[in-house]
Amino acid sequence: MGGSRIERFTCTYSSRFLAVREIDEDLMSTNSIDSLLHESRRFPPTAEFSAGAIAKPEIYDEAKADRVGFWADQARDLLHWHKPFTETLDWSGAPVARWFGDGELNVAYNCLDRHVESGNGDRVAIHWEGEPGDTRSLTYAELTAEVKRAANVLAGLGIGKGDRVAIYMPVIPEAVVAMLAVARLGAVHSVVFGGFSSESLRSRIDDASAKLVITADGGWRKGKVFPLKAAVDGALAAEGSTVEHVLVVRRGENEVEWSEGRDLWWHDEMAKVAAEHVAEGFEAENPLFILYTSGTTGKPKGILHTSGGYLTQVAFTHKNVFDLHPERDVYWCTADVGWITGHSYVVYGPLANGATQVMYEGTPDTPHPGRWWELIEKYKVSIFYTAPTAIRSFMKLGREIPDGFDLSSIRVLGSVGEPINPEAWIWYRDVIGAGTAPIVDTWWQTETGGIMISALPGITTLKPGSAQVPMPGIKIDILGEDGTRVDPPQGGLLVVSEPWPSMLRGIWGDPERFRETYWSRFSAGDTWKYFAGDGAHVDSDGDIVLLGRVDDVMNVSGHRLSTQEIESALVSHPMVAEAAVVGAADEATGQAVVAFVILRSDQEGAQTVDEASTILRAHVAQQIGAIARPRQVFIVAELPKTRSGKIMRRLLQDVAEGRELGDTTTLTDTSVMQIITDKLN
Ligand code: PRX
Repeated sequence: MGGSRIERFTCTYSSRFLAVREIDEDLMSTNSIDSLLHESRRFPPTAEFSAGAIAKPEIYDEAKADRVGFWADQARDLLHWHKPFTETLDWSGAPVARWFGDGELNVAYNCLDRHVESGNGDRVAIHWEGEPGDTRSLTYAELTAEVKRAANVLAGLGIGKGDRVAIYMPVIPEAVVAMLAVARLGAVHSVVFGGFSSESLRSRIDDASAKLVITADGGWRKGKVFPLKAAVDGALAAEGSTVEHVLVVRRGENEVEWSEGRDLWWHDEMAKVAAEHVAEGFEAENPLFILYTSGTTGKPKGILHTSGGYLTQVAFTHKNVFDLHPERDVYWCTADVGWITGHSYVVYGPLANGATQVMYEGTPDTPHPGRWWELIEKYKVSIFYTAPTAIRSFMKLGREIPDGFDLSSIRVLGSVGEPINPEAWIWYRDVIGAGTAPIVDTWWQTETGGIMISALPGITTLKPGSAQVPMPGIKIDILGEDGTRVDPPQGGLLVVSEPWPSMLRGIWGDPERFRETYWSRFSAGDTWKYFAGDGAHVDSDGDIVLLGRVDDVMNVSGHRLSTQEIESALVSHPMVAEAAVVGAADEATGQAVVAFVILRSDQEGAQTVDEASTILRAHVAQQIGAIARPRQVFIVAELPKTRSGKIMRRLLQDVAEGRELGDTTTLTDTSVMQIITDKLN
């Protein structure tokens, strides 16, 4: 068994994920991952990089000596406080933390006005590039002015402290302006990724009882305008919505329906209001945003983040992990603002640090496959942060494409969202980073708010395939099933053992689910341990290697999807009696959605298997969004179940990945798998 696992592992680079799945089975006894990574080169920082680096090696000792005091120092150094805090951490209400609880700040002021007041108003905050090639550069002074006006518009629409505002936008500067205007008023934004369906938008608007939706007519993607306003109309069509107004930015110039009294053009409203707006201080624990993410059940969770702790950690990590020198660096994170990476490392971290950044609206291959590299050359990007799935797709296209551009400005590369396989790591460094740029593989989650595990360039000797070490001030443990710490080189479950500033403060409207999901597995008495849902291994150097999710959450192109959410979407179709979904290893996307569906008996024969599969793939895309569209839908007569009726997804995963079947002895009917595999072959 062990031998065949290693053989399989060496087949393709994506086989890292096959290994991950199998390692799940015997996570506790895995001790050969060092050899599995089959990349033994190490990359120490150059003396030159270390000499100029922001983070110095002493930072680890400082944080260790006084963890809580270390975060207080960061909060004071990196942020402006309207009212200074005297209390750093209050954990008496665990697992809900209060950081800097008696302090007051304004998040937008920290991201904008203070940079203008300190003489950096002329520095470019955002070099924005639209997909069709239109561009806009906004200085800190200009961005501040826009946000002040937008805050006045929102206040005029009755938005104030604590109100929820849904934002459903393309990657355009107004998305950032909208988020910061909400934050400036002490209100709470809920950004919904523009690729999500009308249905998904509706459930998020309803869950948070949003009063206002900010959207655009449409945005550009793959050379076409995708309609956003129409999806908002669909989401608000049913009776009983809490939404009073919809503010619409003109971007796509596409036709839109208009609901008089409810709908307002952004540019009309911006022209009517006063230019000045004074930022008020709000308490550090004032909610800043809700961001929905998939969990193990069908309903997405509204992850709640607050202000002072969140901003401290994202500013600290952004500065130290990327070695940001705001006066000379040009930073580019390719994430959409609809994801946590866009929140923390497009909006809040970079702007709190006064960085100059690039924002790009469209897809990497429009109008040509070198578009990203062209932008790096054009803006002289020096820090570049993207996802392994993108790197792998560029690898496939060949190095000739990036080699056609001048990427010599690059000095730091980042990776996020899923494990980066060593082959992709080496390619990224060699081809994009000229064989010299340090790569930081950053592990974190929507829930953690900011980066938790990463190398620090200039300090860490880099190891491809490993996220490496906890950030200073962060305490990570790898535990066995029984909750005891497993010693290297054993594998186990990743937990965060001490509260951290940017930790989630709850699940919107569901405190029980918050405790149950994250805190029930390993906490005991007064000891609270956050269970992340990831498997991990510590190698013989003490570096952390992430092994993927250990629950029913899939990672498709670095995006989180829940198997149950997709199953619910499938069974909502009248053709479907039962459905099971698994994440199957995929060379390009890490994992891909594969569904097994039993049709209702009155539907059998109504369509060909191919037709049924096409209809159901489209149905999932329409219900959730294109990112959830299954790669394959297999129509089957039975699903493998245990005697207690639980679907054995692991066996379906074996089928989806073309593997020999694992142990089938606990099935009610052992012939089921034979029937399924026969049918698919
Ligand atoms: O499984 C881990 C994976 O992405 C999950 C979090 O997803 P999400 O909340 O959407 O946030 C993604 C962006 C921060 C984690 O539980 N993950 C994220 N980064 C890494 C990773 N897995 C391995 N290595 C990483 N660097």
